[in-house]
Amino acid sequence: MLPITELHMHLEGSFEVESVIAIAQRNGIALPSFDPEVLRAKYKFADLQEFLDLYYDNIRVMRTAEDFHDLAAAYYRRAHTAGVRHAEVFFDPQTHTGNGIALEAVLEGFTAARLEAERDFGLTGGLIACFMRDRGAADAVDTIRALLPHRDLLLGVGLDSTEVGNPSYLYREAFSIAAAEGLHRVAHAGEEGSPDYVWEALDVLGVERIDHGNRALEDPELVARLVGDRIPLTVCPLSNLALHTAPPALADHPLPAMLEAGLLVSINSDDPAYFGGYVDDNFAALDEALALSPATRELLALNAIESSFALPARKEALRAEVAAAVAL
Ligand code: ADE
Ligand code: ZN
Repeated sequence: MLPITELHMHLEGSFEVESVIAIAQRNGIALPSFDPEVLRAKYKFADLQEFLDLYYDNIRVMRTAEDFHDLAAAYYRRAHTAGVRHAEVFFDPQTHTGNGIALEAVLEGFTAARLEAERDFGLTGGLIACFMRDRGAADAVDTIRALLPHRDLLLGVGLDSTEVGNPSYLYREAFSIAAAEGLHRVAHAGEEGSPDYVWEALDVLGVERIDHGNRALEDPELVARLVGDRIPLTVCPLSNLALHTAPPALADHPLPAMLEAGLLVSINSDDPAYFGGYVDDNFAALDEALALSPATRELLALNAIESSFALPARKEALRAEVAAAVAL
């Protein structure tokens, strides 16, 4: 297994059903059932929105910095066993502040777990705070203003949640405030939305990386732009299957077409607790469906490093780890 750089993983999406139950019990919060099998029966989604409704409902049980710490620490432990060496992970501040939780509790818990992962596993990375499209532009501006006193705890900002009907240009003010602070900028776009969502993320929001971006393939000019500017796409194969944003068989996934077009794609897990696996599971499923060659696996590992916001020395060290694993 090659060392992995993961760039598209929502901490809230790593909330395993057993942990939802344990934290609900710890906080005295009611759930429809405390039987994991009963809860898991709902993990079938017609589309992105059905998934998001469950994801936001489960996260209501979170209350304290310790809850946020435990969620992230469980992800980092699992990521370490998957061979993840660098992880730039998302979180959704607005869902927690909307539930009455102080931003400081969220940041304290997630940051403590991130620093422990670096200390214990040498796993580097950072936190990317996502604006939720469905909360609107003004709320995104309020959110970046609230985040700025904690700017040093953040690697960047992102954009996620309900795509269709919430075009990317709406969030330009929040992204421009983030840019002025030197924060990195990424956006989910072209997951369910048309190529326009991707164009606006690039041209209006100035993002450096596109999360998903599968629908960019419908627009040859957009593909040329992404290839020409080496704009990364963070692709999430098992998420695409679970949310029907790719053909139902992984053998028909657009990954080979993306690589063929020269796009800078990496493999990621998105919401591993909901979509059937962590990043190593995504690689294993791809391997089974597409019989990835050793050269393709190495390319994907190197693409992820190039796509990351790691500093040059860290990128070099990650590349050296890939080279050492390839030589085995
Ligand atoms: N939030 C968590 N996962 C997401 C996804 N795949 N798309 C949009 N928003 C999300
Ligand atoms: Zn995502």
